[in-house]
Amino acid sequence: MATLRLGDIAPDFIAQSSEGTINFHEYLGDSWGVLFSHPADYTPVCTTELGTAAKYKDEFTKRNTKVIALSVDGLASHKGWINDINETQQTTVNFPIIADEDKKVSNLYDMIHPKADSNLTVRSVFVIAPNKTIKLIITYPASTGRNFDELLRVIDSLQLTAYHKVATPANWEHGQEVVISPSVSNEEATVLFPKGFKEVKPYLRLTEQPNLN
Ligand code: BEZ
Repeated sequence: MATLRLGDIAPDFIAQSSEGTINFHEYLGDSWGVLFSHPADYTPVCTTELGTAAKYKDEFTKRNTKVIALSVDGLASHKGWINDINETQQTTVNFPIIADEDKKVSNLYDMIHPKADSNLTVRSVFVIAPNKTIKLIITYPASTGRNFDELLRVIDSLQLTAYHKVATPANWEHGQEVVISPSVSNEEATVLFPKGFKEVKPYLRLTEQPNLN
């Protein structure tokens, strides 16, 4: 198993999920994707994570992003646990959870870190662009639930910077100033960013987020 890196094609797979058989690339279609693993069903942190992901459905849809979860538990376990998530998190799970009992997908994506736990997946996150390249990889330990606002923030940045010659500074959020890519000359910047830009240093130039109305 080769290490997956940013820019690699997200490995394709066929897997059983709580919403039926998933052909991963076909399932993603022209959407962005978030593939994320959790250690185990019927556990407290995971319950809050999947409930939160379900509640963020509209935010993911706005970003043309499909979410897909995974653990090494089986389908019957997923289906029973979904009822608990829906009940305790006051939501309805609205994305598939892969039942990766044979660890095929977990191994493909290196989601089992033996020194953390030899059998269970860690909290991996892969953000995948419509061309199926991996744009973001984050790994959290079992003891730390993910921040789904951060995931949305990163998707906003990835989508912005995919189409504009900008990058997003520390703690950036949608609507805030961005930095102009170092590869862009000042002459080009004048054309690309007609509202202007501030040159704090020759390498640090700020401009309004370009895709705002
Ligand atoms: C949890 O989701 O709460 C959890 C799962 C595995 C290990 C530790 C915590």
